[in-house]
Amino acid sequence: MATTEEPRWTLITGASSGIGAELARTFAARGYPLVLTARREERLEDLGAEIRQAHGVPVEVMALDLEDREAPRDLHEMLRERGIVVHTLVNNAGFGLRGYFASLPHDKQLAMIDLNVTALTSLSRLMLPGMIERRQGGILNVASIAAFQAGPYMAVYYATKAFVLSLSEALHDEAKPHGVTVTALCPGPTESEFSETAGLKDSWLFRSGVMSSTEVARVGVDGYEAGRAIVIPGAKNRVGAIGAKFAPRFVSRRIAGLLQGMR
Ligand SMILES: NC(=O)c1ccc[n+]([C@@H]2O[C@H](COP(=O)([O-])OP(=O)(O)OC[C@H]3O[C@@H](n4cnc5c(N)ncnc54)[C@H](OP(=O)(O)O)[C@@H]3O)[C@@H](O)[C@H]2O)c1
Repeated sequence: MATTEEPRWTLITGASSGIGAELARTFAARGYPLVLTARREERLEDLGAEIRQAHGVPVEVMALDLEDREAPRDLHEMLRERGIVVHTLVNNAGFGLRGYFASLPHDKQLAMIDLNVTALTSLSRLMLPGMIERRQGGILNVASIAAFQAGPYMAVYYATKAFVLSLSEALHDEAKPHGVTVTALCPGPTESEFSETAGLKDSWLFRSGVMSSTEVARVGVDGYEAGRAIVIPGAKNRVGAIGAKFAPRFVSRRIAGLLQGMR
């Protein structure tokens, strides 16, 4: 059985930019040692060096492509070999794509599901049993306000985030009696590389104001440490999520479609 003195190793996926990099800085500032993963190793090494210097916590880097079905198991094995017991898993890596479902490249759509859904589910399944056994730690899953309604012109992305929110809420209730927290962080438009990758830079959604990744990360870690099931950073985003809950579904999905700006 682990003791509370054991290091609270925090594994962060998608730590090479945006919200993931800021989550890394935020957890490190609160004394959590880190394992950083993403594909761009050099960026992870640079961030690791900066964090070690600024916060004096150990930082390990493990570069991987999480679209590969074997990657979560490989990562789990690498952690075991290095004797790292993960206290907190942050499933942050993800991307979106704007366009018509019928014309976006199908391999990209499947890769999005592999990353946003399959890798997140596999890492959670690999790490949650140990957390429950040790009765400590938890999982912070980065969903989105996209999780609260369907999203025309970003259909697959919205569906992946609805999955992340639903899974996280269910796991929150399953894990809570064992002293383990599972939190879904649901940001709205946020400054990062996301809008470029998704082709959303000129959309209403991103032109109507973005939050900083630093603020999103701070609110996310606060909510996770407070044991909350769902965290929505920013008053505007909270109003949007509540609106989507109470408006007729055809209204909320039409608004999402308009904000994506395909017509
Ligand atoms: N920004 C927003 O407006 C917004 C809003 C709501 C939710 N989110 C969610 O926030 C999370 C973080 O996104 P972000 O905004 O910070 O975007 P970002 O700056 O594009 O960061 C995405 C991260 O995911 C990593 N990643 C992408 N493909 C990967 C792969 N195949 N294997 C491993 N890592 C991979 C990227 O690193 P490499 O390229 O180095 O692999 C990068 O570190 C995502 O889940 C996104 O859906 C973002």
